[in-house]
Amino acid sequence: MTLLGEACPAELLDPGERLSIDELRERQLAGLRATLRATYENVPHYRAALDGVGFAPDDLKSFADLARLPFTTKADLRENYPFGMFAVPRSEVVRIHASSGTTGRPTVVGYTAADVDTWAGLMARSIRAAGGRAGDVCHVAYGYGLFTGGLGAHYGAERLGCTVVPVSGGMTERQVDLIRDFGAAVIMVTPSYFLAILDEMVARGIDPTSTSLRVGIFGAEPWTEQMRAEVETRTGMHAVDIYGLSEVMGPGVAQECVETKDGLHIWEDHFYPEIIDPVTGEVLPDGEIGELVFTTLTKQAFPVLRYRTRDLTRLLPGTARPGMRRMEKITGRTDDMMIVRGVNVFPTQIEEQILTIEGLTPHYLCVLSRPARMDELTVKVEAAPGMVDPEPLATALARRIKDRIGVTATIEVVPPHALERSLGKAKRIHDTR
Ligand code: DLL
Repeated sequence: MTLLGEACPAELLDPGERLSIDELRERQLAGLRATLRATYENVPHYRAALDGVGFAPDDLKSFADLARLPFTTKADLRENYPFGMFAVPRSEVVRIHASSGTTGRPTVVGYTAADVDTWAGLMARSIRAAGGRAGDVCHVAYGYGLFTGGLGAHYGAERLGCTVVPVSGGMTERQVDLIRDFGAAVIMVTPSYFLAILDEMVARGIDPTSTSLRVGIFGAEPWTEQMRAEVETRTGMHAVDIYGLSEVMGPGVAQECVETKDGLHIWEDHFYPEIIDPVTGEVLPDGEIGELVFTTLTKQAFPVLRYRTRDLTRLLPGTARPGMRRMEKITGRTDDMMIVRGVNVFPTQIEEQILTIEGLTPHYLCVLSRPARMDELTVKVEAAPGMVDPEPLATALARRIKDRIGVTATIEVVPPHALERSLGKAKRIHDTR
């Protein structure tokens, strides 16, 4: 069972976190109208898109009207490379971030001074919801640079009043030294890289339950409840999920609260979420799984209308922050869906099964191949140190994957450290087809 943390005292919450649903909806409608107006007036792409469907900015009367607006995709951003989607003159943009993606031009996003300020405020809110407090030492091991992880976490932790240690990713030995020497209470890092830091601790004879770390704020890649249990058991700290994407802001779009650990509250006073059927584009009711779509409500330099994230999840009612809806932990991205002999599989489903088997570790890679005419899935997974006989583990995992997910996979149990470690987002799929 996961151990829950202490709720944030009500007086520390932002006014936005305390809005009732009615107050929030009113604010969201105003935000949607403002974003529509700003994009229509300042971004030729949006003007053309809205004109194309005959929608004038003042036509938005209710949330249902949103469904008539066109989506925005990564391809739209690429076509307007580098600054074509900015809604303010470039000279008012104080910061640029970009995500490289796997192919083609990077996606470029920009921030005004007010946007950076909003972002810092939302990241401070997120760290606080995760259990971080003013005065904590906060170790930031997300990458600094064009990636939004490092600087996003950094500004938020400073805003909250933490002592920020801006380490960035890499040099794992030094990460361990700095956590120990500076007494970090909060660590912000991808879950996969945190596993590498944990392994380094163990290799150096440091008991991970003995460190000063109290909370890990893990995001930028999918991770499962099973991974949470693994990390919390090994370290005795709280592991909570943070979500975001550069196109919408960066980290801090949604955050899991440490007192409930039941999915991520979307900061709906700044971002309006929808779930759509990824194939038809039809809006789905709350509770149904589909692709997450965001419209920004307060951004100046880089507002987005109905941006398709490609992330799969569903919306649930708020709990720890009753006014704000939650999103369930992300299952995966539509582009990471593997189709193995007709069955859809996400790496997170494989991770869930791996972590039920003692002796296997969460270091894994799904390899897709087509030796004959049929697709084959091979799961490479590292054994725990000291494991002598991998055969029964491979058999057990293959059986579980077949029983629970319905696909036949070949399992290769490899020695500890055989798989490449990532310093940021882990690569879970290697497609050789
Ligand atoms: O990854 C922003 C971020 C940094 C979030 C640090 C959290 C922590 P991008 O590089 O633009 O931005 O990648 C965004 O990463 O669409 C998801 O597919 C994935 N992602 C981000 N957070 C999570 C999460 C940052 N908590 C893309 N769970 C998103 C699952 C996540 N996937």
